[in-house]
Amino acid sequence: MDAQALGNEITRVVHTADELAERINQIAKEIDIDYADLDQPLLLVGVLKGAVMVMADLARAVSIPVHMDWMAVSSYGSGTKSSGVVRIIKDLDIDLIGRHVLIVEDILDTGLTLSWLIKNLKSRGPKSIEVMTMLRKPEAVKVEVPTKYLGFDIPNEFVVGFGLDYAEQYRNLDSVAVLSPHVYQG
Ligand code: IMP
Repeated sequence: MDAQALGNEITRVVHTADELAERINQIAKEIDIDYADLDQPLLLVGVLKGAVMVMADLARAVSIPVHMDWMAVSSYGSGTKSSGVVRIIKDLDIDLIGRHVLIVEDILDTGLTLSWLIKNLKSRGPKSIEVMTMLRKPEAVKVEVPTKYLGFDIPNEFVVGFGLDYAEQYRNLDSVAVLSPHVYQG
């Protein structure tokens, strides 16, 4: 779905599909170099459901072997504010002991979810653990999260698309766009 199909449900496009694809390709090249000498596939851990698009594109853009696994955590419900309460809804299938792990996230907002996740995954004995996030809202950050790979910094507005939803809608928008306040203010 492209932004035109949404009419006034969005106010503006922040990053187009082409910009997102180009940035992911650049990051993939960095990952190829940084992890060139691994003696095992890099383990990409995607955070459901928002990271599905980033994960699918990033995994196909890298040239090194990867494994993929998924975690689902809840922190948002259907509102637009982070609760800070993180609960595992689906855990990983793969054992992290001795693995090189790259967490793949859609967006770093307050940072509460990711900092909790890093701590949780670190306790499982991986050899290394790093973060790739497609988007970050620097003005919203409450907890600093070491981010090795960053797509784009964006303003502190509620965005949808490229995996990001509002009440499960808009994930299939091919760009990242600001949701019109009238949509969530009723
Ligand atoms: P954090 O814990 O505040 O960093 O929030 C992380 C999660 O909140 C993300 O993985 C998203 O699922 C969700 N989130 C944060 N900001 C937005 C947004 O602008 N649009 C859609 N979802 C968001």
